[in-house]
Amino acid sequence: MSKARVVSGMRPTGDLHIGHYYGALKNWIDMQNDYDCYYFVADWHALTTNYQSPENIKASSKSLILDWLSVGIDINKSTVYLQSSNKFIAELYLLLGMVTPVSWLERCPTYKDVLQELNDKDINNYGFLGYPVLMTADVVILDAQYVPVGVDQVPHLELSREIVRRFNYLYSENIFVEPQAKLTSTPKLLGLDGRKMSKSYNNSILLNEDLKNIEPKIKQMITDPKRIRKTDAGDPKVCPVYDYHKLLSTDSEKEYIVDGCTKALIGCIECKLILSKHVIEFLEPIKERRRVFETDIDDIEVFLSSSQTKVNDMSEQLVEKVRKVLKI
Ligand code: TRP
Ligand code: SF4
Repeated sequence: MSKARVVSGMRPTGDLHIGHYYGALKNWIDMQNDYDCYYFVADWHALTTNYQSPENIKASSKSLILDWLSVGIDINKSTVYLQSSNKFIAELYLLLGMVTPVSWLERCPTYKDVLQELNDKDINNYGFLGYPVLMTADVVILDAQYVPVGVDQVPHLELSREIVRRFNYLYSENIFVEPQAKLTSTPKLLGLDGRKMSKSYNNSILLNEDLKNIEPKIKQMITDPKRIRKTDAGDPKVCPVYDYHKLLSTDSEKEYIVDGCTKALIGCIECKLILSKHVIEFLEPIKERRRVFETDIDDIEVFLSSSQTKVNDMSEQLVEKVRKVLKI
């Protein structure tokens, strides 16, 4: 029985943090055994918002691949590639653009949100408006059934499905598989300051974090705001530190913390030291693997060349079919 195909990508916009691991990568890693997985670096997508400062994209792409490899994305199981190595995506993107109403793109909620969020950047460019069309090309070019994404990407996927339906309808052929979002149930992990974890807020723990930063960073973390003194009882349910314990600590440690916190028997420092120990244990082997890959891999394009050839060959077949129905 052949495995269902999965495609997903990430933009190379900076170092990954522990939130990316639990929010997306862990799912990607788990899927490697049960699905035929294709994971790519969305470097063209990075340009849609960063076209004014493209100088970091190459280095960030390499760093993203190293992050993936170090957490356990395995190129013997999954096909890993750079989006820009596959020019068939660009052709399909252009052709899909022919059937995509501009109003669908303008109405996309993520389009409006990001336009507002990044109001310090000029992203009134055509490439940014077309972001979901490019995403559609990424996915349908490989006949992917599933796309593992976070909730923030669901509107894009919905748009992809509409574009696919319109194309299939107009040319009365089932050329494209309609992709389905496979939602990553993201466990709640807030940044150190209690806001959303984000590189731009400088409130995260990186997968490649210097281990000596872990303890000081965790000591800074926001706790249950009602627990001011050690003699105040706290509530782990509203404490961001405890969200991390849920993922990293043992059952008996969690019991100890819940009991100690709610009865004011332990202090937050003790609680945070237990967490620091686990975060260090978690990151140490990841950082070690990264060091090995860093020395082994010089040129990422060379390292990825056979998977990139494979993806190009598959893509060419699909694009041939599309050219045919469009009489090109
Ligand atoms: N838009 C995704 C993000 O910002 C990245 C992405 C690009 C992607 N193309 C994709 C994800 C195709 C899934 C499938 O995270
Ligand atoms: Fe949070 Fe731990 Fe302090 Fe309780 S003891 S408030 S769980 S940091």
